[in-house]
Amino acid sequence: MASQAADASTVGSGMSRREFLYYIWGASMALFAAQSAGLLVWFLIPRFREGEFGGTFTVSIDDLPSVNSEPANFPDGRFWLSNLDTTQPNELMYQANDEPNPIQGVVAIYKVCTHLGCIYSWTPTNNRFECPCHGSKYRLDGRRVESPAPRTLDRFRLAAVDDAGNVLAEAEVVDDFIAPLSLPAGTTGIRVDTGFRKKGPSQELLCSFFGNCP
Ligand code: FES
Repeated sequence: MASQAADASTVGSGMSRREFLYYIWGASMALFAAQSAGLLVWFLIPRFREGEFGGTFTVSIDDLPSVNSEPANFPDGRFWLSNLDTTQPNELMYQANDEPNPIQGVVAIYKVCTHLGCIYSWTPTNNRFECPCHGSKYRLDGRRVESPAPRTLDRFRLAAVDDAGNVLAEAEVVDDFIAPLSLPAGTTGIRVDTGFRKKGPSQELLCSFFGNCP
């Protein structure tokens, strides 16, 4: 009787206590559903925009370095683009006998040294990447020439695209590393995904391969 009396009692202008509790419950459920939907949308929206590190960068084919020439620097994306072809060997890119033959295509190389994370740069006088911190050296494609770097420079995934942004070819992942991408006919741009990075392998130092380690 006491509970019936309570249910029958009114809250404010004519609303029973039971109705009031139903409304509160309904409002709580609606709020919970809205929060869940908001979280889902936030999760699905890409975190990085085109041209933001962590997102994709589209580089015109006109800005791609020519084969076996000095790499092109893209500071906003924190990568270098190198264009490789060991069938046309020169001082910048040469073929070692423990690696795929030939090495052909474009690679996007992360600008952070694999030793302790310093920013290395291209040294034109020595035709290689050199790290100012502890002296690691890397070939045009990022392979270690001299230690203390423990491995080859990391690479980002890249794709060849046409004028309309259609993907014509994507770099393959081979042995858990990103292989150079040969550009098909019709390529007008290179799309680099800085959100997808693969660590370089720990191949033999090129200096030991050539017998000229310091
Ligand atoms: S951080 Fe580059 S050699 Fe140490």
